[in-house]
Amino acid sequence: MPTEIIRVDAERPDDRLLEPAAMALRRGRLVAFPTETVYGLGANALDPAAVAAIFQAKGRPGDNPLIVHVTSIEAVYALVDAMPPVALRLFAAFSPGPLTLVLSRSALVPDLVTAGLDTVAVRLPAHPVARRLIDLAGFPIAAPSANRSGRPSPTRAWHVAADLEGRISYIVDAGECSFGIESTVVDVTGKNPVVLRPGSITNQQILEVTGVLSVEKQEFADSSPATPRSPGMKYRHYAPRAKVLVAEGSDPVGRAEFAGQMAAKLHLPPFEIGYFGCRQFLNLLPAEQKVAYGDEPEPELAGRLLFDALRRLDRAGVKVIIAEGLLEHGVGIAYMNRLRKAAGAWQIKGEEDDDK
Ligand code: TXA
Ligand code: MG
Repeated sequence: MPTEIIRVDAERPDDRLLEPAAMALRRGRLVAFPTETVYGLGANALDPAAVAAIFQAKGRPGDNPLIVHVTSIEAVYALVDAMPPVALRLFAAFSPGPLTLVLSRSALVPDLVTAGLDTVAVRLPAHPVARRLIDLAGFPIAAPSANRSGRPSPTRAWHVAADLEGRISYIVDAGECSFGIESTVVDVTGKNPVVLRPGSITNQQILEVTGVLSVEKQEFADSSPATPRSPGMKYRHYAPRAKVLVAEGSDPVGRAEFAGQMAAKLHLPPFEIGYFGCRQFLNLLPAEQKVAYGDEPEPELAGRLLFDALRRLDRAGVKVIIAEGLLEHGVGIAYMNRLRKAAGAWQIKGEEDDDK
């Protein structure tokens, strides 16, 4: 299937340009589109055949449920059979935006979307292109990140094309995503809200609205795969082809020192080692292949560029990527979550490889 790319303005997309993509969605086809977090791979959430095509195109395991995207709270009511007050407070505080809530599902939602769970994940994206496309289509859009399963999430249209060209009808290209890390997923079906996946909306921000909060212990590739409440978190994720190492430490100087020691042990020519971090960190390293996100450690900026950096360094042909670790507070929690998964993924490559 030929994949067509539609370029639109990120702030004010032209309906005439978006209409063919909306029409494709109405016909049960797949369309990749930008959101403020990452690009999503969209299909009609109420059409099981269209939803099945998402799993097929991504190579996604069928037990990993999808997020349903809508543009109003009214539309959320149709998808759920209960709206706890805490959900309304969280939507009021952070939607539209990079927040996904897990709620108990209504009969309208197909089993395939929820992977048979009795809950559904719902998000109101803020990106004007996502919002307009959903409204033009006229139904809720199920959309996982628009990457092949196991690969880094796409934050630019070329990332989507690299993974899904020939497998989907359209890619709507509106440039770079502003957050670059997927939405914060919060389960609000229990007594206390639980953060299942950290994101740009921080634990602290959620706590301020809800007054109480639990954080799901994150499963990493090297820990025993128990039964995670967010099924997607058990899978290999965010993996570039290169091996990823994380240089942790309390400041850029210590981290650069650790990175230097790791690099020395690799016995690789310098051009086969890529680095990602802030300039304070990178300037201390004799690196040939580097991607900088800014001068100083800053998790928001690092998160915005992480997936792009992994893909760019892969393209540059490096065998190992050494990425600067950041302190785990605020958005640093989400950044380290994604980075650890990209690194952990390599350690178990071959065993749990869902990226074939
Ligand atoms: O920012 C985002 O959330 C992006 C954009 C496109 O909206 N989407 C995204 O989708 O990251 P995906 O499919 O790559 O990740 C969805 C996550 C997975 O970890 C999945 O297991 C979890 O949400 N999830 C979906 N439905 C769930 C449910 N009913 N209960 C628990 N977790 C759920
Ligand atoms: Mg994903």
